[in-house]
Amino acid sequence: MKNTKWYENAIIYQIYPRSFMDSNNDGLGDIPGIISKLDYLKELGVNCVWLSPVYDSPQQDNGYDIKNYVDIYPPFGNLDDFKLMLDEMHKRGIRLIMDLVVNHTSDEHKWFIEAKKSKDNPYRDYYIWKKGKGKKNKRPNNWLGFFGAPAWEYDKTTDEYYLHLFDKKQPDLNWENPKIIEEVKSLMKFWLDMGVDGFRCDVINLISKDQRFKSSLQIPAGAKYYVNGPRLHEFLHEINKDVLSNYDCMTVGETAFTTLEDARLLTAPERQELNTIFNFDHTSSDNFMGIKWLYRKFSLPRMKKSFKKWQVGNIWGWNTLFIENHDQRRCVGRFNTNDKELRVESSKMLGTMCYFQKGTPYIYQGQEIGMTNAYFKDLNQYQDTEVFTIHKLLTKLHLPKKFIDFTIPNGARDNARTPMQWDDSEYAGFSKSKPWLSVNENKSYINVEEAKKDPNSILNYYKKLIQVHKEQKEIINKGDYVDLCINHKKIYAYTRTYNNETLLCISNFSNKETKYKLPKHLLNKEKELLLNNYEVSNINEETLILKPYETRLYKLK
Ligand code: GLC
Repeated sequence: MKNTKWYENAIIYQIYPRSFMDSNNDGLGDIPGIISKLDYLKELGVNCVWLSPVYDSPQQDNGYDIKNYVDIYPPFGNLDDFKLMLDEMHKRGIRLIMDLVVNHTSDEHKWFIEAKKSKDNPYRDYYIWKKGKGKKNKRPNNWLGFFGAPAWEYDKTTDEYYLHLFDKKQPDLNWENPKIIEEVKSLMKFWLDMGVDGFRCDVINLISKDQRFKSSLQIPAGAKYYVNGPRLHEFLHEINKDVLSNYDCMTVGETAFTTLEDARLLTAPERQELNTIFNFDHTSSDNFMGIKWLYRKFSLPRMKKSFKKWQVGNIWGWNTLFIENHDQRRCVGRFNTNDKELRVESSKMLGTMCYFQKGTPYIYQGQEIGMTNAYFKDLNQYQDTEVFTIHKLLTKLHLPKKFIDFTIPNGARDNARTPMQWDDSEYAGFSKSKPWLSVNENKSYINVEEAKKDPNSILNYYKKLIQVHKEQKEIINKGDYVDLCINHKKIYAYTRTYNNETLLCISNFSNKETKYKLPKHLLNKEKELLLNNYEVSNINEETLILKPYETRLYKLK
């Protein structure tokens, strides 16, 4: 079937189902809750949803630990609810991509329950088992899991270790076993045949492990033996050939630690693997190697260089544009912006800066109303398993309390997972019962109802931004990207030019007024102001005096 590349014109909204909308007041979001908010999404202007996992799961990692790939987690609803949601989305011109989590399953998946029983169980080879080392039966190697704990768990019954790159309740699948790829193809067909429009492929570049299982001292320990591993491209090509190529669907791979060359191998159309990937380079503008626990001071030039690298360097494929998701803390208050008195200006600025680059925009739920980080102080307020393993690691390393007290609230994923703020009622209109994770106290003034009423709200700005995005599609999709002042520490200014028309996007990343002199080649052009977060009295100035977190999008002819 021809792939129409519809994703190049998509504006994708990510729903984290636990926190989006609770229809039955059990404190947990659900599918009927999502259905009740589809008109809101339609009005916002998005045309595709990425739904984080709704599969049946013990929820150790909020659904990224799947126990049944072809059923729904009962508190979220059932397959009929899912089909109704899909139908209702399609009726509104909204496509749906699902999360595909096939690097690992839950330890409560029937495959793992069988695999654990004995070494000769037919499911044993669905997972990765190794003998302990030496007399002390030590772990097979030094690999460290992404949640900060050793990646091997000892199983007493069979006296072997199994590999888990995430929580110990998320055993890694053994892709060397040809049955795994067949299982994955069949579950993908199940959802595609039902009508879903594609997949966001969770940690997909970790599926192929170097079979030598060697230790490595490079941080993160072991990563060089499983990130973009030896058979990754072979597996993805086979899935594409046997499944994806039969549908007009899209894939976006979650691929941390990926270079431009890796990206070419993953997404060059003639290689028939994935359509697009997420790279995380810009998220390391305030940390080391994209590892959020390794905080460093934000640098705007570093951020601009990461964006430029992909804007200019990705010549074969298509980019993804995001500044928030369920694993990153909220963008407002991050990247040197202000989540207090200049929250509105900052949020509008960040969205404008990001989405007029080339690629498909992803908006994370709540970003469109400028939801802020929870920064929970007390460990008991957290729900995320990662927080607890990281806390244990930092404590074991004897890091100062002051460091830990800063690092946890700063890096925690729960920051972005607090319930969606629909109104100012006790539980923010998300639920009538106490939600699974505390609602942010600022729901009294940061909520959808308020935002709808205020013509200057972030929500109304996002609606306009999406509208402008649709109108300027040709330049956005085809225009050249030029950074005008890459080393400037406060201003991010870039142009997109196609057929003698230019979009000029200028943003002030500082809390102070900042001057910016337009380059000569942009003067004397007819200017139209398409988006702005402060009033602009004279659009023809040569030297702009940009207010704190001011952003402007011009069209020049
Ligand atoms: C991805 C998901 C994250 C999850 C992990 C393991 O990074 O985005 O939420 O914990 O994979 O599945």
